[in-house]
Amino acid sequence: MRVVDLIEKKKLGLELNQEEIDFLINGYVGGDIPDYQMSAFLMAVYFKGMTSQETANLTMSFVNSGHQVDLSKIQGIKVDKHSTGGVGDKISLIVIPLVAACGVPVAKMSGRGLGHTGGTIDKLESIEGFRIELSEEEFINNVNSYKMAITGQSANLVPADKKIYSLRDVTATIDSIPLIASSIMSKKIASGADAIVLDVKVGSGAFMKSLDEARVLARTMVDIGKSLNRSIVALITNMDQPLGREVGNTNEIVEAIKVLKGQGSEDETKIALTIASYMCVLGGAFIDFEEAYKKLEVLIDSGKAIEKFKELVKIQGGNPNVIDDVSLLPKAKYHIEVKAESAGYVNKLDAQAIGVSAMLLGAGRRTKADSIDYAAGVTLTKKIGDQINIGDVLCVLHTNKEDIEEAKLKVLKAYTIGKEKAEIKSYIFDIIK
Ligand code: URA
Repeated sequence: MRVVDLIEKKKLGLELNQEEIDFLINGYVGGDIPDYQMSAFLMAVYFKGMTSQETANLTMSFVNSGHQVDLSKIQGIKVDKHSTGGVGDKISLIVIPLVAACGVPVAKMSGRGLGHTGGTIDKLESIEGFRIELSEEEFINNVNSYKMAITGQSANLVPADKKIYSLRDVTATIDSIPLIASSIMSKKIASGADAIVLDVKVGSGAFMKSLDEARVLARTMVDIGKSLNRSIVALITNMDQPLGREVGNTNEIVEAIKVLKGQGSEDETKIALTIASYMCVLGGAFIDFEEAYKKLEVLIDSGKAIEKFKELVKIQGGNPNVIDDVSLLPKAKYHIEVKAESAGYVNKLDAQAIGVSAMLLGAGRRTKADSIDYAAGVTLTKKIGDQINIGDVLCVLHTNKEDIEEAKLKVLKAYTIGKEKAEIKSYIFDIIK
């Protein structure tokens, strides 16, 4: 087989078989295929796409490039969830204890955040003592004993994706649906999940800017999952503005606690309960979605949900007292109010700009090597649809940095204030099964 012939085949829009895809992926990971040939191949995929069979084959080739987590020692149907990335997205923190409280095992492997979106394990690390590096044995034991555990992704999970993602980043081939779908699904499959609920974000703060694109991505991932015998559902949710009112690591822990205590904002509560309900149904705890949803509401109202989160913090070495006293979490030195310069209604709130501002304040990483400030973040006092008078506080910036001008300008620009009240869009646009 010659690489150039496979690039040519894809350039003509023809379908590659598993053997051909394996040859390309293994050759690239092993260092036999140079960046320039893989780049040409990725660009051919970008323009010509891939069939569902090819996308599933690429996913399996990715999975087989590294370590696959064996969760067979965990009793029950192991469920996982994945979000394609958003701003203020703390849904994983909420659903892990909720689903575990229904007796469904949640064995969650999570990545760190990069750029304008945060990572779940970074958020949890803002709790003093919380350990996110569990050995595979401890991870499995915790899921068997408590129905939940969270750990960072092992270094050798899907190495082909790591190498190819870096190349996509510098060859303008990130936004290719088969490449995104196989990248995400390979990590879910290699992490050992039996059932997966996907949260595909659409809007200003997401990879997918249009509903049509998001539907295609969701359908592609659901088809990959089904072809690999996984139970799978994808939600398409709104990321036109950040989720909830808090963005940043400590901020998002505080807000997740509120949702689990029944004091959360409507958008987050609804999306979290919907995702958790599907996880419970796929995990076999309920037959019916509505029944699962009602049960989860009861768990929140009765205080069992927040108790389960406290248990998660405790078993992973964190200080459980933070649940009752959030002032024990890291605190920023400065809290700067950003005030409205015109009156009207918030018509737009650019999620990506808020995410980037939070990063500039210290909450995120520009590069993988950057460290983060757990106390940094943004509290959104006003969101889309809210009425504004001149001088009203739009948001509060939390930081330990002295120079915040860039972040402040960015958040001011993120708000579009108009004379008419904008229509509030749904939180959940579609569910793909
Ligand atoms: N997230 C991933 O893991 N991979 C992609 O390609 C895009 C988003």
